[in-house]
Amino acid sequence: MNSEYLERLNENNLLVEKALNEYLTNKDDNGLAEPMKYSLMSGGKRIRPFIVIEAYRLFSQKFEINRVLPFACALEMIHTYSLIHDDLPCMDNDDMRRGKPTNHKVFGEAKALLAGDTLLTYAFEVLASNTLVSDKSVRLATVALSNCAGFSGMAGGQMIDLSSGASISNFDLLKNMHSLKTGALIRCAMLLGYYAACDDADEHIIQNIEEYATKLGIAFQIRDDILDRISSREVLGKPIGSDDKNNKSTALSFMSVEEAQILVDNLTNEAIAAIYEYCKKTGHNSLIELAKFMINRDK
Ligand code: IPE
Ligand code: IPE
Ligand code: MG
Ligand code: MG
Ligand code: MG
Repeated sequence: MNSEYLERLNENNLLVEKALNEYLTNKDDNGLAEPMKYSLMSGGKRIRPFIVIEAYRLFSQKFEINRVLPFACALEMIHTYSLIHDDLPCMDNDDMRRGKPTNHKVFGEAKALLAGDTLLTYAFEVLASNTLVSDKSVRLATVALSNCAGFSGMAGGQMIDLSSGASISNFDLLKNMHSLKTGALIRCAMLLGYYAACDDADEHIIQNIEEYATKLGIAFQIRDDILDRISSREVLGKPIGSDDKNNKSTALSFMSVEEAQILVDNLTNEAIAAIYEYCKKTGHNSLIELAKFMINRDK
């Protein structure tokens, strides 16, 4: 694997971990910080903040990490809240996440619910407190985060996942669900990086970065569906067979593991093509490297 990409991943992750930890330090001692921290600081690949930072690098004139870190952390908070709630007994009812017992297994359902709620609301405070970018950037980022997390984004996709069970009748509908429940936060990552870099939204660029993110997001969820079938609990850090247990429609309801993997490869190539011109122009290839890495990820 490209060592420059790995180095950057480690470098970004250290900065993100430190900032996330600081956001949850010295908060009111009312018991909320502990379950919030438990899930937020328990590892995770940190792919979404990586994309925020690297999209910013791609489009900014001058790279200043502090301009983008609040946006990157806000999105990771939303993502973590979505995982806490996704694992609850009323949703996927899973007992392991990021290699540890799920939030509700440790703190109980009510506290897990509140930890998720508070990560969601705190994310908007963190986002809006970014004073190093223009007010217009913050406004654009706020709308993007709300959109991608809510109605026609992650929560909307989770609603389809929850209510349709095994009954999704064709692959296009499944891709639509994947594009919402998983693609939307990846789209948000690209948009937040772009808005940290500039507040002058260029339609053509937005279209291309959304195409990259949507294709990557669908590929990411199909790979997740594959791993749920072929991986192990130890490697994945979360249960396998969760989709079958819950009678879910996944990519594997429509095709074999091999066919699904070909689709992951093809979608990834299409994703890369959508941003290729910007990477070549600037010499920043980390988003291409990330996409290639995600094709065969094992966790
Ligand atoms: C898990 O996301 C949920 C999906 C959208 C498939 P990740 O695989 O990015 O989970 P972490 O953050 O690394 O734990
Ligand atoms: C969607 O998919 C996750 C979210 C949008 C939170 P899964 O339910 O398949 O995610 P995992 O496999 O539990 O991480
Ligand atoms: Mg789920
Ligand atoms: Mg799940
Ligand atoms: Mg899954």
